[in-house]
Amino acid sequence: MEAAAAPESVTQGGGLEVVVFPWLAFGHMIPFLELSKRLAARGHAVAFVSTPRNLARLQPADGVRFVPLPLPSVEGLPEGAEATSDVPPDEVSLLKKAMDGLAVPLAAFLAGSAGRRRTDWIIVDFCHHWVPPIADRHKVPCALFMIFPAATMAFWGPRWANAANPRTEPEDFAVPPKWMPFPSTAFFLRHEAEWVAGSFRANSSGVSDAERLWEIMERCRLTIHRSCHELEPGMFALLSDLNRKPAVPAGILLPCHEEENNQSSSSSSQALRWLHDKPPKSVLYVALGSEAPLTRENIHELALGLELAGVRFLWALRKPVSTAGRNDYDGELLPAGFEERTLGRGVVCTGWVPQVKALAHAATGAFLTHCGWGSTVESFAFGHPLVMLPFIIDQPMIARAMAERGVGVAVARNESDGGSFTRDGVAAAVRHVMVEDQGKILAANAKKMQELLVDQPRQDQYIHDLVDHLRRYKDA
Ligand SMILES: *[C@@H]1O[C@H](CO)[C@@H](O)[C@H](O)[C@H]1NC(C)=O
Ligand SMILES: *[C@@H]1O[C@H](CO)[C@@H](O)[C@H](O)[C@H]1NC(C)=O
Ligand SMILES: *[C@@H]1O[C@H](CO)[C@@H](O)[C@H](O)[C@H]1NC(C)=O
Repeated sequence: MEAAAAPESVTQGGGLEVVVFPWLAFGHMIPFLELSKRLAARGHAVAFVSTPRNLARLQPADGVRFVPLPLPSVEGLPEGAEATSDVPPDEVSLLKKAMDGLAVPLAAFLAGSAGRRRTDWIIVDFCHHWVPPIADRHKVPCALFMIFPAATMAFWGPRWANAANPRTEPEDFAVPPKWMPFPSTAFFLRHEAEWVAGSFRANSSGVSDAERLWEIMERCRLTIHRSCHELEPGMFALLSDLNRKPAVPAGILLPCHEEENNQSSSSSSQALRWLHDKPPKSVLYVALGSEAPLTRENIHELALGLELAGVRFLWALRKPVSTAGRNDYDGELLPAGFEERTLGRGVVCTGWVPQVKALAHAATGAFLTHCGWGSTVESFAFGHPLVMLPFIIDQPMIARAMAERGVGVAVARNESDGGSFTRDGVAAAVRHVMVEDQGKILAANAKKMQELLVDQPRQDQYIHDLVDHLRRYKDA
């Protein structure tokens, strides 16, 4: 039997030398670090490339060597801004421009490493279209690691499929692409389509996100995905077909909550202390990520919705970064009197909250999330039903997929004014999940999802298969 030979080929040969290079966003760096840790734990040497300030904000990991490359300065980008969480959304393309300036130092680093020992792989992110030519000069193959669901990549589609089926109007994005052969939640309603349309436009970095992605997709040897067959059946075969190269799931790469990826998180467990005396499963954990483009009005409606819902909540609220010269968030962030009125049953933490620890806490019973893939995946680990308030990128699509699986309910949006939401919509969704009887069905489904995904041998097998692919394709 052929299958019997496979594990042997994997145990043969020494460790791989892998360079990983995530986009300058913590939502990317953290899963890249989780992947790095798993490779390092199997004896492979991993060099993790980022900028000095980003590396200082990550928890060092055994066997993963941090390689700091100083970020070139770019006109308009604030001093010290090295991650998307340091800039307002409209300056992210400047950060991309600065990151493009890492081409020379990265080439120098690869040349230096090559002198010592050959690098086997460089694992890049969606935006690193300039890495493959450099890697080619050193005869190092590239793999693309997508931290998004595989469905997001399939929705984007390869260049040839887009050329054959051009999408130009918002309506074109409101249905799954023609190259998806099965029913799918991969589409964007009109009020959600701005991001997708924007990803096909060149930006102040001069290159559109779609162009960046296509160039890498065309020149990498394989694609790696933070996902698994249990979550996205059929999707990896479709991607392999579309991209004409293997699409390999890496599993869900859950961070271990014993040691969250933040050096300072242990000192800041004030939020966790608040949870300690609350009854089991009675608290809604609220967190919308660090980059949701929240307006002052959004924050007020969310607050007043939580107040109306009448449930216990712990809200990790990161003050949005304002654009230079604009003071969008001056004065009080929260509605007047909100904290006094909800005292005892709710708390708002504006500092860092260790999210995985908060989700793991016995008092937490549900999660109000923006449905970024990282947060969504973290929720699976603890089987929490979701109240969903998506904003950008693929969040609306992920929310639709989770609603279809019956693990969450989205806050109603007004489609005729660009997608506003109200306190009543927030309160209704929160009560649906936490108070009303239907919430029990969501919780039961979330529990089933947890059982399906928190299966260590199965998740280990994904990494095993990935390493097998890295070995097999490195000399292809
Ligand atoms: C860059 O694109 C984003 C959407 O992807 C858009 O919001 C932003 O305004 C664009 N910036 C520039 C300078 O064109
Ligand atoms: C880690 O925690 C500190 C404060 O304790 C915070 O300033 C920093 O942004 C956090 N790092 C990440 C990756 O969010
Ligand atoms: C939705 O927005 C439209 C346009 O601003 C407005 O006329 C309408 O009343 C809104 N609907 C709801 C339910 O708030």
